[in-house]
Amino acid sequence: MSDFSSSPVIEATGVVKQFGTVNALSGLSLKVMPGDIYGLLGPNGAGKSTFIKIINGLSEPTLGTVNVLGYNPMLNPIEVKSRIGYVSENSMLYESLSPRDFFEFVASIRKTDPVRTNERVARLASALGLNEFYDSPISTLSLGTKQKVSIVAAFMHDPPLLLLDEPLNGLDAKSSRILKDLISLHTENNGGAVLFSTHIMEVAENICNRIGIIYQGKIVAEGSLDELRHLASTGSTGQETLEEVFLKLTHEEEEIAETVRTLREAFVADVKPSGPALA
Ligand SMILES: Nc1ncnc2c1ncn2[C@@H]1O[C@H](COP(=O)(O)OP(=O)(O)OP(=O)(O)O)[C@@H](O)[C@H]1O
Ligand SMILES: [Mg+2]
Repeated sequence: MSDFSSSPVIEATGVVKQFGTVNALSGLSLKVMPGDIYGLLGPNGAGKSTFIKIINGLSEPTLGTVNVLGYNPMLNPIEVKSRIGYVSENSMLYESLSPRDFFEFVASIRKTDPVRTNERVARLASALGLNEFYDSPISTLSLGTKQKVSIVAAFMHDPPLLLLDEPLNGLDAKSSRILKDLISLHTENNGGAVLFSTHIMEVAENICNRIGIIYQGKIVAEGSLDELRHLASTGSTGQETLEEVFLKLTHEEEEIAETVRTLREAFVADVKPSGPALA
């Protein structure tokens, strides 16, 4: 295989995904390069999870092309999956297994070097505070603890590409901080790449070098935070938060103002005083 240092880790061109009459993706194109931490931001239903599943070979695009580390995920599923660590939106764990059994199972499927993998798993599990749950059935674990199991499984084979679909879901402040550091380390060390979706603007603002805003199945704006500010600007002060830029680019600013106005009117009408009660 060729040297990937200058080749995209992900190259998607004109990806369309239809579910019946629903256009989940309507011509999405993006590139993720080695060393990128690419944040995918978009409103609910914008197509983030659908796109991440297509990259991982779990869903076939209706139209368009996808290249992941030089492979087509539909034609080369094993090559692609073995090079990806995936945290899905809904944890896909074997609930009757313990984390220990689950990690062993995943390692055996991936045919990783057992010594190295065990060492990485032990470090990751300890960093995320999983040790005390190591032998409990996954079904008995809390939401955030299950998420930590998914995260360890995604990072354990040190894959060149991490696909993280809302990875901070359910995590407490300490674990979120550790995960953010793990994501940064992943790209600093070995030119690994990360594509992740989040609704937490502050996270995207702090750790991504590139942000893609996805709206109705397409990337409507892409770049660093400063580049996005510029794109959203008329009269930008250069100080806008990512949330402000995001709402502007997805045309949700006016919708929110209108919704709040309507709610206020309805709720104020509901609680109108009916006058003092007579004894
Ligand atoms: N298996 C499916 N069958 C039918 N429609 C689907 C399916 N999966 C996704 N969709 C539709 O595709 C669109 C995009 O969904 P997707 O889950 O990708 O959004 P998302 O950006 O991840 O949203 P969220 O922020 O809520 O996670 C939505 O309209 C959704 O209802
Ligand atoms: Mg989603």
